[in-house]
Amino acid sequence: MSADFEFQEARSLFPALNQKVGEQVAIYADGPGGTQVPRAVIEAISEALELGISNLGGNFVTSVRADSVVLGARQAVADFLGASRPEEIVFGQNMTSLNFALSRSLARNWSEGDEIVLSRIDHDANISPWLKAAEDKGVTVRWLPFGKDSGELDIAAMPGLLNERTKLVAVTYASNALGSISPLRQIIDAAHGVGALCIVDAVHFGPHGLIDVKELDCDALLCSAYKFFGPHIGIMYGKHSLLSEWTPYKLRPAYDKPPERWETGTQSIEALHGVTAAIDYIASLSQLHQSSARRQRIVAAMSRIQRYETELSQRFLDAAEAIEGVKVYGVTDRNGLDRRTPTFALSIAGVAPGKVADLLGELGIFVWSGHYYAMTVMEDLELDESGGLVRIGFVHYNSPGELDRIIAALAAIAGSQS
Ligand SMILES: Cc1ncc(COP(=O)(O)O)c(C=O)c1O
Repeated sequence: MSADFEFQEARSLFPALNQKVGEQVAIYADGPGGTQVPRAVIEAISEALELGISNLGGNFVTSVRADSVVLGARQAVADFLGASRPEEIVFGQNMTSLNFALSRSLARNWSEGDEIVLSRIDHDANISPWLKAAEDKGVTVRWLPFGKDSGELDIAAMPGLLNERTKLVAVTYASNALGSISPLRQIIDAAHGVGALCIVDAVHFGPHGLIDVKELDCDALLCSAYKFFGPHIGIMYGKHSLLSEWTPYKLRPAYDKPPERWETGTQSIEALHGVTAAIDYIASLSQLHQSSARRQRIVAAMSRIQRYETELSQRFLDAAEAIEGVKVYGVTDRNGLDRRTPTFALSIAGVAPGKVADLLGELGIFVWSGHYYAMTVMEDLELDESGGLVRIGFVHYNSPGELDRIIAALAAIAGSQS
């Protein structure tokens, strides 16, 4: 593997990236399904367990340590998301569970005849919780479509979907299938314009760009640490006023203040220590001095990541689109690469997506195929019955050399058809 790419040093911090399949070093092009973790995350999790942690709220050393680990993780995530305070950060099992809990709570204030807006480009974790809540309450669901050719949300449709009965708009920050980044500013403003809440799924966007919840002014935003180089933990940001005002489903003796009032049961405290380490790892990519504020380092790191990933997107599109029989979905306009993440859903004429993924897997190239829970995307592209699409997703630890190896493999698979 060539050692001449910008994030080579960072890459060497990830033990799992040394995985071999046969003689070949594996290529993790499955980042949208979950990323690997740097050694610092593994060490943070082990350290928490080795030093000893007890449950929260006691007056003895291992409980005090647990309190400090949890608070540290809340502060780290607040820095990661640009939140005003750690009390706006809620932890849970994963994004899906947090969103189900949120939907239960918010639906309490809905009545028959109310409306909500969901997007056709979203992962089902930001669709089904709301669909089920709407079903329970007799609430009408309106759909924000995406362009079949552009692979981008059709923002022009937005005004026609909103009215004074709209309670909520749920939308993704970026599509985990097509990579398209949503025009969130316009969507959130439009939702607020009719008094509706806006809930954002930032799970896919998390490792690719800077999130600033204050600037977005979203009401809640959910993400998952395992998609941004951390352990398997779900995260929800909520505006403090709303986390105080909304009523969660919660056991009786538990805290009545946010964020604890939104958390059920005992958290994975050791994993939370890993979340802090993952965010510190991202901050470390900034090349700014350690003494700079963590948020400032995250801002700089994300801009560096985005610059590099745009180069990867350009390189991938140029090479993939040159292969006969390969069709790449989503934004392909080279001037619009800032409107996508380096996540590419594609097809190869004459080869089923599942077969392509299997063949790549045999070569040590890890990718997904199918719908990856973006079921409405595949339905609207009329690909749901034919096995969906192959998804090749990069993050900053993927090198140009890996990308070239993937392209060569795709060309060989496509070539075997002609
Ligand atoms: C865009 C998006 N939203 C939500 C989820 C669900 O996240 P979790 O696994 O934390 O429930 C995923 C997982 O793949 C995703 O890609």
